[in-house]
Formats: sequence, structure tokens, C-alpha cells
Amino acid sequence: MMPDMPDGIRILLTQDEIAARVTALGAEIGRDYAGREPVLISVLKGGTVFLADLFRAMDLPASVDFMSISRYEESAEPTGVVRILKDLDHDIVDRDVIVVEDIIDTGLTLSYLLGALRQRGPASLEVCTLLDKAVRRIAPLDIRYLGFDCPDVFAVGYGLDASERFRNLPFIVAMERSMVENAPETLLPLLAT
Ligand code: IMP
Ligand code: MG
Repeated sequence: MMPDMPDGIRILLTQDEIAARVTALGAEIGRDYAGREPVLISVLKGGTVFLADLFRAMDLPASVDFMSISRYEESAEPTGVVRILKDLDHDIVDRDVIVVEDIIDTGLTLSYLLGALRQRGPASLEVCTLLDKAVRRIAPLDIRYLGFDCPDVFAVGYGLDASERFRNLPFIVAMERSMVENAPETLLPLLAT
């Protein structure tokens, strides 16, 4: 049962819709990488919920690794240049790498990271994102695996946060940008359902 939605909040994707799509994506990746052992790389923290489900939908001996980055928000123009706070544990030379993201918005962060990863000499490098906010794209990107197109809204849940909270909602809601600051008041009741 879906809970009643507070004003200004609507369900973008239900738990069932997410599960069905993630299962299909896992199967597709399993077929495409049959006989290989890809490493799934997630940028902390938004992509981790998706990664955990995607990983278990793949019938491959895949491994996972994580990076943590910080954006240089101070600069006037967003450039995508990031500082690596935690690097991968293992090198990716000659590995088949799949970067798993929660959502691609401007694409600036990811295109910068892909450039950095490419320099490390992986055998292949692909992107799998749950959501794609294509209308906001600044840096063009090839997305090999896509869960869902996303409208230009602020999405929260299933790994996506509002100021670090509500990543553990099992579904994804869309909220008006103006409401994000009051997310605790509006979204807290949804966690209890
Ligand atoms: P960009 O593609 O470089 O603009 O940044 C993408 C990152 O911004 C994502 O990985 C998320 O962490 C965050 N982000 C973008 N849109 C949303 C959203 O609607 N909800 C929550 N986080 C978002
Ligand atoms: Mg992210």
C-alpha cells in the first residue's frame, strides 16, 4: 500500500516499479558481460542503494568498489572538478568498469570522474544510472544502462537524499525545489509506512 502523499509531494516511482526495472537491468548487464567479471563503481553515497539491488540481480562474479568525492561548490561556475576524498581500494587497469549512479543531472561531476577513471586504463568503462534528468544536461555523456528518465524535479528516496536524509525511503518521490528545506516535516510521515 502506498501512503497518502503530503501536498507538494508526488510519487515518482513505486517500490514495485523500481524493483522490476532493476531486475531487468541486472539481467541485461549479466547477458552483456557474460564470461567477464565487471567491477561496479559507486560514488558515495546516493548510488549505493541502487547498487546493492542491481548487484544482486546480476548472475555474474562481479565486484564492487567505492569512491567518495567533494565538489568545489565555492567556485562561481560549476565545472564538475572534484576532489577525491576516498579513492577506489583496487586499481582498474584492464578491468571492465561500470559506474553506477543514482541520478545524472548536469553530468558535470560524472564526466569529470569518467575522464579520471579512463586515464587508469580500464578495459572498458560504461555508465549505469537509475535516473537521468536529461533536460538539465550540460556535459554530454553516453549512458549505456538507464533505469528511468526523470523530469526536472527534486527526487528523494531510494538512495537520493534531501540534505542527507530520506535515502532510506523505499520509493522515490518528487518534491518542489522550494520544499526541500522543509523536507523533514513533509517526508517524515512517509518513513513510518
Ligand atoms: P551532476 O550530474 O554533476 O549535476 O550531479 C549529480 C549528483 O547530484 C547526483 O549524483 C546526486 O548526488 C545529486 N542530485 C542531482 N539531482 C538530484 C535530485 O533530484 N535529488 C537528489 N540528489 C540529486
Ligand atoms: Mg551522487
